[in-house]
Amino acid sequence: MENFDVDVYGLVSEAGKAREFSYSPYSHFAVGAAIVSKDGKVYRGANIENSSFPLCMCAERNAIYQAYLDGKSKDDLLALAVVADGEGPCSPCGACRQVLSELFPGDAPIYMANMKGDIEQTTIAELLPYAFDGSDL
Ligand code: THU
Repeated sequence: MENFDVDVYGLVSEAGKAREFSYSPYSHFAVGAAIVSKDGKVYRGANIENSSFPLCMCAERNAIYQAYLDGKSKDDLLALAVVADGEGPCSPCGACRQVLSELFPGDAPIYMANMKGDIEQTTIAELLPYAFDGSDL
């Protein structure tokens, strides 16, 4: 079994930098995400909103799509951090959980954070038990 160390604070900081690129004029809720892969690359995402509200895209999905667009797949990914300026750590929405359950390793750490420095660790398996997947089709 390969062993990889994740710099949690470094990854949360990367998510914070991504957050600066959020386009969120409607909700005024800026979110940043960062995913680190086994080769040490970091993929950032921020939420990008639209006046046609259903078209808004979350930070986590933008980050994971960046990783896949760089040729990465599920087994290449190590950890994800997401941060927003909330009272508690930012929890991925249901749509992101569904996408991550297909594209992100089930047991890899997900660090949910806020701007006050609160960090909570979980996994997508914990966030979305009984996920719908390709075997259900
Ligand atoms: N949002 C994210 O980007 N990630 C989350 O985990 C929660 C919600 C975005 C969507 C929308 O642009 C704004 O936050 C308010 O819901």
